[in-house]
Amino acid sequence: MVTARPVGIVDGVDYQQTGLVRKIDVQTIRFALNSGAMVLLSPLGYSPTGEAFNLSMEDVAASTAIALDADKLIVLAETGGVFDSDGNLRREVSEAEAMQLLAGDTLPEDIGFTLRHALRACEGGVARAHIIPYGLDGSVLLELFQHDGVGTMLVEETLEALREAGPDDVGGLLALLRPLEEDGTLVRRDRGLIEREIANFTVIEHDGVIFGCAALYAFPEAGVGEMAALAVNPQVQGRGDGERLLQRIEQRARAAGLKRLFVLTTRTMHWFLKRGFVLASVDQLPKQRRGLYNWQRKSLVLIKQL
Ligand SMILES: CC(C)(COP(=O)(O)OP(=O)(O)OC[C@H]1O[C@@H](n2cnc3c(N)ncnc32)[C@H](O)[C@@H]1OP(=O)(O)O)[C@@H](O)C(=O)NCCC(=O)NCCS
Repeated sequence: MVTARPVGIVDGVDYQQTGLVRKIDVQTIRFALNSGAMVLLSPLGYSPTGEAFNLSMEDVAASTAIALDADKLIVLAETGGVFDSDGNLRREVSEAEAMQLLAGDTLPEDIGFTLRHALRACEGGVARAHIIPYGLDGSVLLELFQHDGVGTMLVEETLEALREAGPDDVGGLLALLRPLEEDGTLVRRDRGLIEREIANFTVIEHDGVIFGCAALYAFPEAGVGEMAALAVNPQVQGRGDGERLLQRIEQRARAAGLKRLFVLTTRTMHWFLKRGFVLASVDQLPKQRRGLYNWQRKSLVLIKQL
């Protein structure tokens, strides 16, 4: 199923029986899968003339994922993820961020090697690549079925741009938020307020149209942040944009040194509970925010540790 070629002579060093993947026989793999078999590939490949080559597991895995047009590639690695310079695990890394990390010299060699192959898979059309620790019992299940997971997920870049908002986005934000304000889901924000607070917003834009937004308000003395005005255009709900906005706001909050994130909601409690928030009380809000709490609206307070 795996055809190999020699690495050859690099900088005067003959790599002899060390090889690279040349081709994956997708047809045979699919045939085996369709007949109910499980396919296990070893990091060993043969040249068309029958010579055996030692391949890297990552090369075989990424090449196979691309050839199969897989939805996911999961790599169980010793390091089990990408860590930032403060030693915090990066839960999600975009293709562009992965390229930046690989271009710098901060990554340990082993994780750089794994990330390079995960990136190659994403560039080859695999939607997500996960790097998770093999030393942790149940890590595959924890990564796939827990919201935050236990490793790093590399995400294929989509045409949509997730970015911080600028003054030109005020009109788009108003168009997105207005209907939700009118039906009472969100509190009303006038143009002037959005203009003043534009830097707090993160938006998802597609072809020049704002399809989603969320805002972060920091209360640094209390070490907490509020996520507000989370909204996704009803036409594109259910595709994970809400989730991406939440993750970006969490990232921004962590970068600002905040330890907890809270939201006030009247109708979306379950969405937040599923994403690691727990119910809290108005007393747990920072003092300044408590004063502004609208007792008529009776929003629920939900908090998440970052
Ligand atoms: C909440 C919201 C931002 C989610 O955006 P999204 O892009 O659809 O989110 P995702 O694609 O990441 O998640 C979709 C999942 O959330 C669920 N969901 C959507 N609204 C929900 C709600 N009010 N309560 C519970 N679950 C909800 C969907 O059923 C879907 O579940 P599934 O994955 O099991 O199919 C979007 O529904 C929205 O804009 N709602 C109106 C505004 C709002 O309520 N904002 C929060 C104010 S505090």
